[in-house]
Amino acid sequence: MAILKVARMGHPVLRAVAEPIEPDKIQTDEIQRLISDMVETMEEYEGAGLAGPQVHVARRVVVVELREDREAEETEVLPLINPQIRPIGDRKISDWEGCLSVPDIRGIVPRWQAVGVEALNIEGEALSFEVRGFPARLIQHEVDHLDGILYLDRMKDLRTLSFLDESARFGPDASESSDAADK
Ligand code: NI
Repeated sequence: MAILKVARMGHPVLRAVAEPIEPDKIQTDEIQRLISDMVETMEEYEGAGLAGPQVHVARRVVVVELREDREAEETEVLPLINPQIRPIGDRKISDWEGCLSVPDIRGIVPRWQAVGVEALNIEGEALSFEVRGFPARLIQHEVDHLDGILYLDRMKDLRTLSFLDESARFGPDASESSDAADK
């Protein structure tokens, strides 16, 4: 296992469209090691999710830390290979997001409240599930990375962009805005 270097905004790998992973390659040492290194890197930097391009690997793989809500202590790390998402319903929710590739900054981003997810798991088996709320936001953020999209591109109002330390001093607490409906 290894902690990988995280690409920061400005590195072209973050703007490239990542390539799918062939299903019969999922069980190879190369891909299994990549995924375990991504999990270790995410945990080291206290991220809630990480996408292949963020560790300079332009492949369609993400790891996400799923929990009931932002405050929940129990988590489950889920690797998703070649994930595809579709919105469920037409409601969007606006809430704070940050990104390990855009350090020390956060902003308010509208996202679908609920999404359906299809992906392959670490054994190459098909997964299909629905998520809503924070995990739905997280998965949309990570899947965007596979298409070269950063959360900044999704923001409707750049005035909410804040440095974490200033936001802690002056801004609304993230948990207070979690139900704010998008207009
Ligand atoms: Ni990110």
